[in-house]
Amino acid sequence: MKKGIVFAAVAAMVIAAASTAMAEPIVIKFSHVVATDTPKGMAADYFKKLAEERTNGAVKVEVYPNSQLYKDKEEMEALQMGSVQMLAPSLAKFAPLGVKEFEMFDLPYIFTNYEDLHKVTTGPIGKKLLTMLEPKGLLGLSYWDNGFKVMSANKPLRVPADFKGIKMRIQSSKILDAQMRALGAIPQVLAFSEVYQALQTGVVDGCENPPSNLYTQKMFEVQKYVTLSDHGYLGYAVIVNKKFWEGLPADIRTQLDSAMADATIFANNIAKEQNEKDMASVKASGKSELISLTPEQLAEWKAKLLPVHDKMAGRIGKDLIQEVYQATGFKK
Ligand code: LMR
Repeated sequence: MKKGIVFAAVAAMVIAAASTAMAEPIVIKFSHVVATDTPKGMAADYFKKLAEERTNGAVKVEVYPNSQLYKDKEEMEALQMGSVQMLAPSLAKFAPLGVKEFEMFDLPYIFTNYEDLHKVTTGPIGKKLLTMLEPKGLLGLSYWDNGFKVMSANKPLRVPADFKGIKMRIQSSKILDAQMRALGAIPQVLAFSEVYQALQTGVVDGCENPPSNLYTQKMFEVQKYVTLSDHGYLGYAVIVNKKFWEGLPADIRTQLDSAMADATIFANNIAKEQNEKDMASVKASGKSELISLTPEQLAEWKAKLLPVHDKMAGRIGKDLIQEVYQATGFKK
């Protein structure tokens, strides 16, 4: 009798072990719109590696770069519907979800450098913003850096008067719309995947990008001038479908959280250097002429762009803007 029980127990264990070994891995589809050799692309691949290693293959991360699976707007919908599980959209793309506060990151000149930015993204303000995603069925896991933007066009953009009447591609952010209008340009929202062709065919005249995007999308090949304006920041929030994430076994979630924490350190360590390298590659290509602003020209840009903070305070929240000023020590 005893022998029979032991045999049955052993058999049950063998069957359980075999079925675990055969169990399908949990698949995380991670969709993004940039190239693999960008800060976001490399960090997504690094997260995949760590996640698969730390879960011993119980999780499989499928990374779909370059808008292969979804373009900007569709990927947000896909995440909410559960067709993909993870995204890292730029902070300029969160307002259509109903969280306009993220557009604070788009305010021109609000961050002078990465250090100031990190005072926000790694502090209570960053945390508070991510919490605002929960009622939308999303969880914000981390902020990943990209960089400070340059302006490009087929004419030199040295002073605001140079922007008069030119069509500039923007991401879907009302702050970026106000920014371009303040300079005298005509903003046009386009999905990231459509920008190269729009520049090439003259649908738009210019755009703004961190160097890594300008370079890896080859936009510099169809833009004769690049102004090193550093007039605003572009970075990301890594987001997941809340129901999916909270439904994961606790041990798996812990392993994934640790993979994300390390992928975030990685992302934020490589972003600045990668952008500098890509700007150097644009320069070396000889296809675009790089323009640096004189102090007088920079003062003209700021005179036009800083008023955007007050103008758009009603949309983002005056208090939030003040909190950011306090956290970074920003002064107009
Ligand atoms: C853009 O649309 O310009 C960026 O948000 C693309 C990206 O993900 O860096």
